[in-house]
Amino acid sequence: MCGIIGYVGKEANALDVLLKGLSSLEYRGYDSVGVAMFDRMHRLSTVKCAGRVAELEKRVQGSGDSYCGIGHTRWATHGAPSDINSHPHGSANLQIVHNGIIENYACLKKELTELGYTFVSDTDTEVAAKLLDYYYMKRRGHFDAVCETIERLEGSYALAIVFADDSGTIYAARKDSPLIIGIGEDANYIASDITALLFKTRDYYSLEDGDIACVKADCISIYNKGIEVKREKQTAKWDHVAAEKGGYDHFMLKEIHEEPEAIIRTLRPRIKDMLPDFSADKLDEDALKRISRLHIVACGTAMHAGLIGKFMFEKYAGLPVSVEIASEFRYNDPIIDENDLVIIVSQSGETADSLAALRLAKEKGASTLGIVNVIGSTIANEAHSVLYTYAGPEIAVASTKAYSVQTSLLTLLAIRVSLLRSRIDEKEAREFTHELYVDAPRAIKEMLERASEIKALAGNFAKSEDLFFIGRGKDYYLSCEGSLKLKEISYIHSEAYAAGELKHGTISLIDDGVPVIALATESRLYGKMESNIREVKSRGAEVTLITNAESEFKSADHVIDILPISERLAFLPVATVLQLIAYFTSTERGCDVDKPRNLAKSVTVE
Ligand code: F6R
Repeated sequence: MCGIIGYVGKEANALDVLLKGLSSLEYRGYDSVGVAMFDRMHRLSTVKCAGRVAELEKRVQGSGDSYCGIGHTRWATHGAPSDINSHPHGSANLQIVHNGIIENYACLKKELTELGYTFVSDTDTEVAAKLLDYYYMKRRGHFDAVCETIERLEGSYALAIVFADDSGTIYAARKDSPLIIGIGEDANYIASDITALLFKTRDYYSLEDGDIACVKADCISIYNKGIEVKREKQTAKWDHVAAEKGGYDHFMLKEIHEEPEAIIRTLRPRIKDMLPDFSADKLDEDALKRISRLHIVACGTAMHAGLIGKFMFEKYAGLPVSVEIASEFRYNDPIIDENDLVIIVSQSGETADSLAALRLAKEKGASTLGIVNVIGSTIANEAHSVLYTYAGPEIAVASTKAYSVQTSLLTLLAIRVSLLRSRIDEKEAREFTHELYVDAPRAIKEMLERASEIKALAGNFAKSEDLFFIGRGKDYYLSCEGSLKLKEISYIHSEAYAAGELKHGTISLIDDGVPVIALATESRLYGKMESNIREVKSRGAEVTLITNAESEFKSADHVIDILPISERLAFLPVATVLQLIAYFTSTERGCDVDKPRNLAKSVTVE
């Protein structure tokens, strides 16, 4: 999704900060880039283009010193990626960059056209810029013009604004799209997320909906509904090293290797005497005991993590769980009430559909719990309770370590709820917790050490244009994630099927040489999976089996055996293997692993 960066300071290094910030934002996914900066003579100029930050760098060479500027990476929504549609947009009086979608842009555009404004781009952002120009021209002052403008905007926005006649101030405003103000020494910053600023500062304020900030080199003032407000200063736990590649070829590979540590970091503060303990998170345990139904709502990989959570809560805590895609949940009039707990799982904590689902659940009276990686993000702030995952910054667009920590934390929570509901005793809970906290990270490490074996197999997949994942039970849920990972970064068409469902249609696609990845980690289903493998083999498929029980299977062409770990947690090392398969297949095909086409890291628009 789009990214915003802004700098105003006493040193004339705005261009460096903007370019470095824009590079740090690249991971969010983007197609165009641009900056607006003041020069030493306080003249405001704009440079923008479709393409990468490297292209912009060429175009701004020799721009000279600057004390203030704003920059943007655009992920096209209204209008194709092009120089003209890139941000900033504006007029001779001002320039703005914008994340989000202005939903009433068409009627505002009509109104402004009647007032004599003309438009050069297809964007909703240019409409917001011209509306601001209109209020500015009415000579109401910068701040009032910003207030009047945002009152007219419907939809979501994070805005950074500079006025041509004030080279020392950036205005920032937000509604339903994240925006932070970074606090520096003799300099302040604006960014859509803290990772873009870690090379300068870890201290920041998170703007809330309706906030307008007036940011200068030596002061930050924040207003809401015209009244000055204080926002709590936050400090990112991550440092800039955590947001760098650290010797790996790609962020994705680095992040997969971080999984064992990330799981331990996430679980450690919630384990006492080898039993789950969420007292530091201030979870309302009485409420957890009382709930009658659980809904886990999320998007993409986070939703797949929710499927593993479903398995754990149903099997061990005896709680009925529905897992729902947030974009469906929000429009399907879900049946939920005050006896339900709605868990929103989100790495970024800013996903627009997940946030809308959270608000809907609250409206309907349910208790809500966010499982979120980014501290201070909107979902974390708005949910009744929050459990942070401590994965550290996830930069690669494809989510990997976030999935591992989400599934681990959901499992730990399921163990706690099982205990609370007396479905398991302390002895079993202790064993389970030990397996999760000690054995699972070790099993993942061992699979990471076997990366070359996985790489060799991925070489075969890279030549295919279609691939199928099959599994049953938890292995089906894992297949969904394996398939998503592969398709998003290697562009190979792939599907995940519950193995027993294949013969109800999809098996007609199996032909000579079609690769099938079969997952089999549940002993009660080994026999069934062996039959499913035979079914596809007899139609020509080339089967790669990932299992914890190699000796139970006779028909697969290739086997990746998972080292001994309790069967209920085998999904964790298997997930790592699936991520590595996707990674190596993608690199073999020469794809842009960390920034796959058309995708954005944080989906802050619908
Ligand atoms: C896939 C991926 C996405 C995200 C989804 C939700 O690799 O990263 O499917 O999982 O967009 O994002 P968050 O977790 O930030 O809400």
